[in-house]
Amino acid sequence: MNNQNVLHVDGDDESTNPSANPSFDGILQARLSRRQLLGGGMGAAALTMFGAGLSPAMAAPAANGAAAPGRTPPRLAFTPVAKSLADMVSLPEGYRHTVLYRLGDPIDGSVGEYRNDGTDPADSFALRAGDHHDGMHFFGLGPNGRHHKNESDRGLLCLNHEAITPAFLHPNGPTVVGGVRTVAEEVLREFYVHGVSVIETAREGGEWRYRRDSHFNRRVHTLTEMELSGPAGKTPYMVTKYSPDGSRTRGTANNCASGNTPWGTYLTCEENWAGYFRRIVATDNPNRTARERTALARYGVAGNGRELWATVTPDTADDLYGRWNAMKLGASTDGSDDYRNGPNTYGWVVEIDPFDPNAMPKKRTALGRFAHEGAWLGPVRTGHPLVWYMGCDSRNEYIYKYVSNAMWSPDDANGGMAAGDKYLDDGRLYVARFDADGTGQWIELGFGVGNVSPANTAYPFADQADVVIHARLAADAAGATKMDRPEWGAVNPRNGEVYMALTNTNAASRPLERLDAANPRFYNDRKTTGQNQLGNPNGHIIRFAEAGGDVAATAFKWDVFLFGARAAADAANVNLSGLTDANDFSSPDGLWFSQATGVLWIETDDGAYTDVTNCMLLAAVPGEVGDGGPRTITNSNGTDSRTVGTYVGKQLGEENLRRFLVGPKECEITGVAETPDGKALFINIQHPGEDTRPDFATGSFGSHWPDGGLSRPRSATIVITREDGGKIGV
Ligand code: FEO
Ligand code: CA
Ligand code: CA
Repeated sequence: MNNQNVLHVDGDDESTNPSANPSFDGILQARLSRRQLLGGGMGAAALTMFGAGLSPAMAAPAANGAAAPGRTPPRLAFTPVAKSLADMVSLPEGYRHTVLYRLGDPIDGSVGEYRNDGTDPADSFALRAGDHHDGMHFFGLGPNGRHHKNESDRGLLCLNHEAITPAFLHPNGPTVVGGVRTVAEEVLREFYVHGVSVIETAREGGEWRYRRDSHFNRRVHTLTEMELSGPAGKTPYMVTKYSPDGSRTRGTANNCASGNTPWGTYLTCEENWAGYFRRIVATDNPNRTARERTALARYGVAGNGRELWATVTPDTADDLYGRWNAMKLGASTDGSDDYRNGPNTYGWVVEIDPFDPNAMPKKRTALGRFAHEGAWLGPVRTGHPLVWYMGCDSRNEYIYKYVSNAMWSPDDANGGMAAGDKYLDDGRLYVARFDADGTGQWIELGFGVGNVSPANTAYPFADQADVVIHARLAADAAGATKMDRPEWGAVNPRNGEVYMALTNTNAASRPLERLDAANPRFYNDRKTTGQNQLGNPNGHIIRFAEAGGDVAATAFKWDVFLFGARAAADAANVNLSGLTDANDFSSPDGLWFSQATGVLWIETDDGAYTDVTNCMLLAAVPGEVGDGGPRTITNSNGTDSRTVGTYVGKQLGEENLRRFLVGPKECEITGVAETPDGKALFINIQHPGEDTRPDFATGSFGSHWPDGGLSRPRSATIVITREDGGKIGV
C-alpha cells in the first residue's frame, strides 16, 4: 500500500521553456529611455494608435448573446466576507447556497446513491459526477430542447472534471506496489472520473436541482471516442495503433477551464495532459529523432505518468492501459503499432455539443496545442471574425488568440458541430508579446511566417500541422513574452477589453533579473509561519484593449489591472493595488464577467496566503485600460534590487472590489457560470481536504465538506442565490 499520491500533485506550474524570449534588458532599457524622453505616460506612437478607443458603435455585445449590461458600471451591494479558515462556504448576509452536484452523484436513474467509501463500481462512474469540478458554462434550454440563450429557469450545465484526489476514490487510496498499479478496477475508476459532465438543471419551486433522469445528461471521459479535426487531424503526427489514419483518439483529460461558442456548444480545454503519459526518457530518447526529442522535452512528456496508469498488467485487447505509454515500442516507422504519438492527440480545445448527446466531440487543432487553461470568446459581431483568447498555464508560458477566417453569421446560431467545422477548423493562431511601453503585438503562428519555418534552427517546422501541434515552439520562435502562469481570461462585455489571470510564479522560474514590464514583481511574501516565499507568489491580473476595438487587430495596449497581495504588504512595491482586509487575495485563477451585471468575478487557487485564509471568490467593477498610470517598482531578493517600470490600473478601493465567498478547507474556488438573468451563480469547490493525509481507520480527513460528520470530502458545484431573488452581487 502506498499513498504517495495522497498529497496534492500540481503539475501545472513546471517550466519547460528554455527559450530566451524576450530580451528583457533590451526592452526595459528601451522603455525607460522613452519614458524619460516623454516624461512618463504612454509613448507617442501608442497614443496615436489607441487614441480613438472604442466608439459606441464598436461596443461589444454580450459574448453569450444575453442582454448586454449598459455602459454604466454596476455598483457592488453586499458586505464583504471576512477571510476564514473554517471548513464551510461563507457568503454575505442575504445570500444562500445549495450544493447541486457532488463527486459521485448519479446522472441516470439506473445508478444508485454514491457510497463515498471507495467501493462504488468503476463503470458506474460512466453515469456519475466526476471529480475536481472546474470550468463550467450554463446553456439556457428552451421547451423545444434547443439552446435558448435567454432562458434562465432551465439549462444544460457543462462542467469539467479536471483531475482526481486518488485518496478519496478507493477504499484506502490508490494501491501501488513497487511503482505499479496492481488493482485495474481502481485505474478504470480514475479513467471515468476525469472528463466532462453535461447535466440538466432547473429552478423548481425556488430551488435549483439537477434532473437525474434527463436524456441530456452525459459523461465524457478518458474512454470517449473523439475526432481530431482541423489542420492536425488525419496527419502522420496523429497516427496511433488505435487510429492508423490519425483521425481519432480516445478521451480527454485534465480538463481545466472552458469556453463557449455563439452556436451553443461547450469548449473543454486540456491542461496538464502531459503528466499522464509514461515516457522513460533515458530509454526512449535514443529511439527518437532530434525533432521528436525537442518537442517531447518542450511539452514535458517525461516520467512514470502521474497516476501510473500505463503500469497495469495484463492489458486489454484494445490497450486500455498501455495507450498511456508514450514510448516507441513498435517496429513501425509511422507509429501505427504503438502509442508513441499518443501525446500529440492531447493538449487541445475540445468541442462538445450539449444539445446532441450523440454528437462525437471534436478536438479543434487549429487553436493550437499547449497546456490549455481555457478558451474565452471575444465580442461577437455579425460580419466580423470570431476570436477566442487562451492561456498556456505553466510558468513562463504564453497568451494566445485564435481568429476565425469565416465571418460570423447569426444564421449559424444553432449550427451545432457543423458551425464548429466552419469557425474552429479554419483560422489564424497568434501569440502575445507585451512591450515595455504599454503596447503589445499579436504575432501570427503561421507556417512560413517569420521564424516559424523550416529555417528555424531550434525546431525546423515542416507544415501547419507541425505548427499547431508544437505551438509552444512556434511561439518561442515568434518571440512571445513569457508570463507568470496564464490561467483564466474574461472579456468585459461593456468594452471588449480582455483580462487574463497570471496566477503566480517563483524565484526559480522568474528570478529578479528576468522581470519585465508585464511581469514586474519580485518580493518575499513571508507567511505567518515564518516560511519565505520569493518571487511573485500572489500573482496579478493583466488586461489589454485591442487596437480600434477590433478583435482581429494585431496590436493592443495593456496595463496590470490588479496585483494580489496581503493587505499589510509594502504598499510601494508589493500591495500596488491598495488591497485591504475586505478584498486582499492571492493567486487569481478563475475569471468571469457577468453578462447580466458586468461584475467581474475573480476566483483564487492559492497556496501562498493559506496561512490566513482559504481560497475565495471576489467581485470587482473594473474601469478600463489606462485608467491608472506608469509605476516604477523596486524589487528585492534580499541581496540585489532591481527597478522595473510598468503600468498599473487605477486602484479599485472597497467600493469596487470585495470578497464575496470563502470556501472550505484546502479547496480551490474555480468554475463560474450564471443564468442569463444574473440571479443564479454556479461555482465549483474543487478538491476540499486534498492536502491532509487521510486516516481511513478513524475517518479523519482534511475537510468533511460538503456532507459533514466523518464523511470523505467531495468536489461539488454549488448554486448561489439571493434570498430576495435579485441579481447576484449588485
Ligand atoms: Fe487547472 Fe491552470 O489550473
Ligand atoms: Ca485553473
Ligand atoms: Ca490553478
